[in-house]
Amino acid sequence: MSPASGPGPRWLLFSFGMGLVSGSKCPPNCQCQAQEVICTGTQLTEYPPDIPLNTRRLFLNNNSITYLPAMNLGLLSDLVYLDCRDNLISEVMDYTFIGVFRLIYLDLSSNNLSRISPYSFSTLSSLVQLNIANNPHLRALNKYTFANTSSLRHLDLRNTGLQTLDHSAFQHLLTLQTLYLSGNPWKCNCSFLDFTIYLIVSHLKHPDDQNATCVEPTELAGWPITQVGNPLRYMCITHLDQQDYIFLLLIGFCIFSAGTVAAWLTGVCAVVYQNARRKSSEAEDEDEHGQPVEVSRRIFQRRSDSGQDGFPQLI
Ligand SMILES: *[C@@H]1O[C@H](CO)[C@@H](O)[C@H](O)[C@H]1NC(C)=O
Ligand SMILES: *[C@@H]1O[C@H](CO)[C@@H](O)[C@H](O)[C@H]1NC(C)=O
Ligand SMILES: *[C@@H]1O[C@H](CO)[C@@H](O)[C@H](O)[C@H]1NC(C)=O
Ligand SMILES: *[C@@H]1O[C@H](CO)[C@@H](O)[C@H](O)[C@H]1NC(C)=O
Ligand SMILES: *[C@@H]1O[C@H](CO)[C@@H](O)[C@H](O)[C@H]1NC(C)=O
Repeated sequence: MSPASGPGPRWLLFSFGMGLVSGSKCPPNCQCQAQEVICTGTQLTEYPPDIPLNTRRLFLNNNSITYLPAMNLGLLSDLVYLDCRDNLISEVMDYTFIGVFRLIYLDLSSNNLSRISPYSFSTLSSLVQLNIANNPHLRALNKYTFANTSSLRHLDLRNTGLQTLDHSAFQHLLTLQTLYLSGNPWKCNCSFLDFTIYLIVSHLKHPDDQNATCVEPTELAGWPITQVGNPLRYMCITHLDQQDYIFLLLIGFCIFSAGTVAAWLTGVCAVVYQNARRKSSEAEDEDEHGQPVEVSRRIFQRRSDSGQDGFPQLI
């Protein structure tokens, strides 16, 4: 085959070859019987060749495999059970399990996973049990990691170095029953609140809940995360931060200033008004010896006139 023809046709030919030998071959040192291949503890350093294509259960545990090749794994389209415990796998990519979409059981515990791509499990809609415990370098999980694993019932996240989880990562897991979360340095800050509320309302089984505790903040250190929802809600919703105090102080200062300005304005108005009144009364005092006396005299006169005129009319 010429190099120009690319990997495509060669790959097809290879698959065809594998198809021909399926059922007849078995990886060295492994046991193959009744659609089950057992390579447990055979000092494998990589994924073994010659796995029969009709395999339904594959045991690769207790080896030193560092990498799961998507192409080879994808040939096993009947695979429902994959045990990769106790290996040295460091990464799971988006396409690693793309061909083994019938998988029901997947064990990746006790490896050296430092990264799980967000869509690694997105084709595994039949997956019932997923174990990624004892991968202390993992530290974080994307919120889409479990978006399509809608059949999941048992999920083990022990000793994965996780500090936080997004509650929306769990919103599609309606059949989830058991969730292991212990041995992780949970950081119980306000971003974690929604997840802790989810733990309270979801009624999942947490067989290890006494060992799944917060390490931060110090006030909540040692609290089981299944019980920390309410104190955290108190801290995050009713608790005032330094910023809130500064804000309140500013508001208080504004009200105080507004009050001072209003009082000052009132004072000024009062003074102006009183000045005006004093001026007008001074003006009246000046007139006292002139006009006002004549006016009152005229009124008296007019009253006596009308009295004389009116009295006889009344009789
Ligand atoms: C696999 O390895 C673990 C520890 O790495 C050991 O406890 C267990 O006995 C081993 N199992 C087999 C079947 O070799
Ligand atoms: C596991 O991964 C970490 C980095 O993620 C690396 O430093 C360490 O050497 C790895 N351990 C093994 C046994 O490969
Ligand atoms: C989930 O699966 C459906 C089909 O089963 C697919 O269309 C969708 O893209 C998948 N979602 C993710 C996040 O992979
Ligand atoms: C809470 O801790 C997580 C993990 O360290 C961090 O990603 C997040 O930003 C923190 N949230 C807040 C509100 O501090
Ligand atoms: C909690 O951790 C302690 C010490 O690490 C261990 O002895 C105990 O069995 C664990 N309990 C559960 C329920 O996992």
